[in-house]
Amino acid sequence: MKKSFFVTTPIYYVNDIPHIGHAYTTVAADVLARYYRMEGSHVFFLTGTDEHGQKVQEAAQERNISPQEHCDHMVGRFQDLWKKFTISNDDFIRTTEERHKTVVQKILTQLYNKGDIYKTSYEGSYCVPDERFWTEKDLIDGCCPECRRPVQQIQESNYFFRMSSYHTWLIQYIEENEHFILPKTRRNEILGFLKQPLADLCISRPRKRLSWGIPLPFDSNYVTYVWFDALINYVSTSGYLTDTENFTPLWNSAVHLIGKDILTTHSVYWPTMLRAMGLAPPRTIFAHGWWTVEGQKMSKSLRNTVEPNMLIEQYGVDAIRFFLLREGTFGLDSDFSHQALIHRINSDLANDLGNLFNRSLAMALKYFAGSIPEPSTLEGIDEHLRDTAVQVKNEVDLHMENIALHKSLDAIWKLVRMTNKYIDETAPWALAKDTRQEKRLATVIHTMLESLRFITTLLFPFMPTSAEAMWRALGCSETLSQHTISNGTQWGKLTTGTAVTKIPPLFPRIEG
Ligand code: MSP
Repeated sequence: MKKSFFVTTPIYYVNDIPHIGHAYTTVAADVLARYYRMEGSHVFFLTGTDEHGQKVQEAAQERNISPQEHCDHMVGRFQDLWKKFTISNDDFIRTTEERHKTVVQKILTQLYNKGDIYKTSYEGSYCVPDERFWTEKDLIDGCCPECRRPVQQIQESNYFFRMSSYHTWLIQYIEENEHFILPKTRRNEILGFLKQPLADLCISRPRKRLSWGIPLPFDSNYVTYVWFDALINYVSTSGYLTDTENFTPLWNSAVHLIGKDILTTHSVYWPTMLRAMGLAPPRTIFAHGWWTVEGQKMSKSLRNTVEPNMLIEQYGVDAIRFFLLREGTFGLDSDFSHQALIHRINSDLANDLGNLFNRSLAMALKYFAGSIPEPSTLEGIDEHLRDTAVQVKNEVDLHMENIALHKSLDAIWKLVRMTNKYIDETAPWALAKDTRQEKRLATVIHTMLESLRFITTLLFPFMPTSAEAMWRALGCSETLSQHTISNGTQWGKLTTGTAVTKIPPLFPRIEG
């Protein structure tokens, strides 16, 4: 049976305008999904939108339309952007869909009947924009610790999930499962957080205050708290309660990619909810860092939000996909600037990769009329390049397993640079001047093209459009997406006699 791989992004608030932060997680998930598909796994890649809550209700009111109409209008911004980014998601969940609401209600009923959900009266400081209660000690100068706006004193009856009863279990689970929360620093952060008492979780909102939500099946005066609704998307889409045969292997392989700001909801609320439902936690929760812009926090008020559509238009989709994952360490914060982007494009893409590709093809065309020449016995320098290529492939496998996406790109660039060096050292232009060296020249050209085929295959998850173009130019059969990684990275698979074709530069230098 095929191995499974289930990867998710957070479901984005439908009200937001998508920015590079959203694109970052979605591109990262796409890279993993494409890699595991190529590796032969059964992949399920899920993204979507989070459509309930006060902000959506208010925005719809302002526009004088229903919340559903508002969501239907807004969701396109994400869906269109993901198309432009060549995102290969297998499903797109909107929390207003029936298939999701049904599962949320079933889970609520199950936990209520089990005694894991109870009603009680509660008084506290409430932040209206964030839809959250805070304890007195959380407040900063009497204001919400997250958005710094004033809070209101509210007393109301609500439903609570007995999260506290899973406190000890959760600590033990995290301690015993090293790869559950990654990177390690985030795991330590959560273990630190869990040293304090864990309160029960308020999971309802009175309907008179918030109507745009999923009604509690056991009390129609209330709707579900957005996080209780949103987190369930990960199982409502993957066959839970509807297709157990498909669901179980997928769930055991689940990787949630998230930003560091939503770590607590994912690694405290979610696993305890799952435990109450009788399900195991996902395999891994990976929290990446945040993007700043020229050293500053990205925010609407600073008007420095980086708009991905414009970036794609200006620089090309693969350059942006590449930059997002190459610029920083996946897991830490990164900084965006046009200068850094242009520098990356010029040095890594135009100079290193683009140049390598163009000059290799040009030489194959010039010396062998574009027909891939037959190699003879490899010399030490050829073997060294071959061994590096195989070693890089193994490194990429390991880094993908650890979700160290930047390290995968580092490894691939090691091979790019090594191949450039190989050309400089073997100097085909000098060999071409000596007719006695014809066989050697053939071996060198064959070896460099073979290395390019490796590079192209390994690059596919990161830059699918460019990799396909490179694959075609190398005269390889079918499309790259129809090949497995092991097939594309088997040395010696390049077919002698097939024709390479010259293509326009894939990554033109950006001046200025
Ligand atoms: N709807 C919730 C998630 C529910 S998942 C069950 C939500 N949505 S969000 O649209 O506000 O944020 C989605 C993601 O965008 C989060 O992972 C967050 O970390 C990420 N980012 C928001 N700003 C960011 C940056 N400046 N940089 C990187 N990622 C950022 O939270």
